[in-house]
Amino acid sequence: MTVNRRHIVLGIGGGIAAYKAAELTRALMEREISVQVVMTRAAQEFVRPLTFAALTARKVITSMFAGSSEDTLASAVEHIRVAQEAEALVVAPATADLMAKFANGLADDFLSTMYLAFTGPVVIAPAMNTNMWTHPATRRNLETLRGRGHVIVEPGEGFLACGMVGPGRLAEIERITAAVLSVLERRRDLAGETVLVTAGPTEEPLDPVRFLSNRSSGKMGYAIAEAAAARGARVILVSGPVHLCPPPGVTTVNVQTAEQMRAAVKAHFEDATIVIKAAAVADYRVADPAPQKIKKGEGGLTLRLEPNPDILSELGRMKGNRLLVGFAAETGDPLPEARRKLESKNCDMIVGNRVDRAFGSDDNEVVLALRTGEAVELPRASKREVADRIFDHLLKLRAALPATK
Ligand code: PMT
Repeated sequence: MTVNRRHIVLGIGGGIAAYKAAELTRALMEREISVQVVMTRAAQEFVRPLTFAALTARKVITSMFAGSSEDTLASAVEHIRVAQEAEALVVAPATADLMAKFANGLADDFLSTMYLAFTGPVVIAPAMNTNMWTHPATRRNLETLRGRGHVIVEPGEGFLACGMVGPGRLAEIERITAAVLSVLERRRDLAGETVLVTAGPTEEPLDPVRFLSNRSSGKMGYAIAEAAAARGARVILVSGPVHLCPPPGVTTVNVQTAEQMRAAVKAHFEDATIVIKAAAVADYRVADPAPQKIKKGEGGLTLRLEPNPDILSELGRMKGNRLLVGFAAETGDPLPEARRKLESKNCDMIVGNRVDRAFGSDDNEVVLALRTGEAVELPRASKREVADRIFDHLLKLRAALPATK
């Protein structure tokens, strides 16, 4: 593999469309992309590995365990090395079985094992019989994979090998190739950036047992952190208390209160080139939290609340050349408030979303208010898709903005 050549893994599933993977291989190689082919056992029933070995001038990986025990050991760690070398994993055709394995974390062959070991961008081009494509199990697996931020190149409609006519045909090779090129382009477009993200709620104590908080799950902020890491950025995630695993390759700083979040954000602000504040920070805290658990009395309980620092406004006053992104969580149309916050907090972008559709959900529907005056409405999509779109528009914005002092 030459030094600056792009390198991907092409996983081939056992569908009649497997023969089209040869054309895809050639199209990718014509674009200076080196291809390591991995075939499932079923795929080898449709096309011989020799076809791809000749096209790629590389050994085709056809099984997890090959030959002698020494070969088996070497082969068993091979999937880790192959996963680490690849800049993208492309699966075409992706059968219903492969999608089910990926979605549910099964790893009983080389390709499904490598999928679990791979942390970079994944492009999936499904192909199957129409009934299989529309089956609820396949739809559920598809949504799981889309929710992980994988690029799905939707099948085309038309005449299928099984004689039916309908959705399920492997997408045109040009569409799959374009998706791969876009992913490879995007994969590096945040290289050199340090992205500081906040996520989740804060908890403001009443006493050692009780606290005030909100319904933020952290999913939006974590998706932003994941997307940034997948595109080559150094990522620092300041997270309130959530029930999510820290995204791979991300430095996570866990906090509880707004004050602690403010301290953690300011500690990392200097290094950051992009700051995205997706956390639902409590606007108020209890003025004097009780040192002991408050006993239930006969009468009611009066709490005296005092304002928390507005971290976003504070960052807006010291932003420098950084790109600063805030959120606006509104019950009504978020755009007017997003535009107001854009100005009042000196942000470059405010992501407006509706509280009834954004808190806790896997998807989000947002409007981006930009410093250029534009407003961009994004269709409802997985929070990971939304995160990638936010970065796409941020990079365009930076190109359009004069360097601020
Ligand atoms: O976590 P999820 O379940 O995925 O839900 C995602 C989300 C709805 C929490 C997220 O999309 C979102 O809208 N986050 C911002 C929620 C919020 O606090 O909105 P706001 O309009 O009250 O705050 C405006 C901005 O100021 C936010 O960027 C917030 O981080 C920031 N802020 C608010 C208060 C404060 N004291 N300091 C701040 O920095």
